[in-house]
Amino acid sequence: MKKTAVAPSNIAFIKYWGKKDEVLRLPENGNISMNLSGLETTTTVEFITSYKEDSIEINGIVESNEKNRAIDHLDRVRAIARIQDKAKVVTKNNFPTGTGLSSSASGFAALTVAASKAAGLTLSEKELSILARQGSGSACRSIPSGITEWLDGETSDTSFAVSLYPPEYWDLCDVVAIVSVGRKDISSTSGHKLTATSPFFEMRRFHMKEKISLCKTFLADKNFPAFGELIEAEALELHAIMLTSTPSLIYWTPGTLRIMKLCKVWRNEGIPVYFTINTGQDIHLICEKPTVELLKKKLAEIEEVKNIIVNTSAPGAHLIDHHLF
Ligand code: DP6
Repeated sequence: MKKTAVAPSNIAFIKYWGKKDEVLRLPENGNISMNLSGLETTTTVEFITSYKEDSIEINGIVESNEKNRAIDHLDRVRAIARIQDKAKVVTKNNFPTGTGLSSSASGFAALTVAASKAAGLTLSEKELSILARQGSGSACRSIPSGITEWLDGETSDTSFAVSLYPPEYWDLCDVVAIVSVGRKDISSTSGHKLTATSPFFEMRRFHMKEKISLCKTFLADKNFPAFGELIEAEALELHAIMLTSTPSLIYWTPGTLRIMKLCKVWRNEGIPVYFTINTGQDIHLICEKPTVELLKKKLAEIEEVKNIIVNTSAPGAHLIDHHLF
């Protein structure tokens, strides 16, 4: 059976950084994100009895760096479905890979939904989220719809994401400024391992529960300024931890920093916008819909900005009928 799924990437408002279990990908803390309408992965999977090995094509490349990680994920699906067949997988992103736009989130969410269905399984949203998490942590948040929370479970069965609000709840937008198409030097997976080497890590652990609860309150109240201040401070805390890890992780480029500083200038001019950044150089500008056009104009004037992608809150991963092969 050939099955195809499409899944959104997501932007974390409260970040997943550090794992309390590396193999199971249990995060140090619960976290909150929004699925992104303009950053999608589409994946087609078919299990074929005559195949001697898995054939995996990622963005047109057959021998990609991510191939083994995808095979490990197919093995998880095969173990649950109790099948041995190898698979043909073709997957495509509609955005640059490995620059910090969370292609692993959309990639493993799409692979989870397509592969499990192609293997004959019918899994619940919770089961899909648990399975996606084992491929890439942030992928578990791309399974449910809209704004999602990855619950801080202590075991594999209790560590999954749920939808907090559907896409139409609030017209929050994420205007992504692409400041370089180069791949980031250090992957998130490698970066997570360094978290505990930062002297600020204990401080972060200490106040995470309170941060999550505040974030949920500001979302419930649609209190944009309070929400914006919180998520910008959270992004800076994430980068403070990365900057002070051993070895240090420095993802910003001059373009990233320029926009970070401009964001404050724009706020002083009365434009309600806040930034967040993941592991990578690209910067996510979070605003409400009425601000988007003005922001796009401002960004277009900045030399380092190569591309702008406007996202609204999106549905989670789902099956579609249009196959890639
Ligand atoms: C900074 O989900 O990419 O984007 O589980 O090793 O695949 P793995 O890590 P990944 O880490 C994402 C880190 C982040 C923050 C976030 O998205 O919450």
